[in-house]
Amino acid sequence: MSSDRPVYESIRSRRAVRDFTDEPVSRGALERILRAARWAPSAGNRRLHKFVALEDAQAIARIKAISPGMFGEPPVLIVICTDAEQLARENVKDHDTSTMVDVGTTAMCMMLAAHELGLGTCPTTSFSAGGVRGALNLPDHLTPDFMLQVGHAKPLPPGGGGGTKLTIDEITHWGAYPSD
Ligand SMILES: Cc1cc2nc3c(=O)[nH]c(=O)nc-3n(C[C@H](O)[C@H](O)[C@H](O)COP(=O)(O)O)c2cc1C
Repeated sequence: MSSDRPVYESIRSRRAVRDFTDEPVSRGALERILRAARWAPSAGNRRLHKFVALEDAQAIARIKAISPGMFGEPPVLIVICTDAEQLARENVKDHDTSTMVDVGTTAMCMMLAAHELGLGTCPTTSFSAGGVRGALNLPDHLTPDFMLQVGHAKPLPPGGGGGTKLTIDEITHWGAYPSD
């Protein structure tokens, strides 16, 4: 990606990918995506997450079967889990706002790292948490909060991906709202 504003261009050009080729994702690329997660901003630097990285097609198919929001058949699936033991150590209320924001910052770092590597991702929250827990034999202290599908993207259909983005005037109020 050659640009004098590569971060902005990366943010702008990333799209949710729901159609993947069969090409595998190298372990090196996967490790780089996981390393990016380590640099995500984290409230109080509490580092609440554990990751489950799946590369096995059958294991991923079992998760897909219990995930209505998973349309693709990605070669890699990363499950972001919040660690209740870490929550307790840090005296954090279970799944408070910061906890869920941390999931988002982590996921975004991973998506942008994958995008830079030429890989597509799809954030996924529509899944059965209990089902994923069972399928992965997760220990009780780990709660699956978010899944990231990762793989090589098939070309998006013309005009596909992301839909219309809102203008900044539609989403921004310049200054405080007037008092009544
Ligand atoms: C918290 C969150 C949950 C999402 N869950 C799903 C999901 O379960 N399935 C899916 O296909 N896309 C999911 N998405 C992707 C959004 O639909 C997508 O980001 C949005 O339509 C904008 O498209 P873009 O990312 O290409 O700009 C999710 C995105 C976020 C941020």
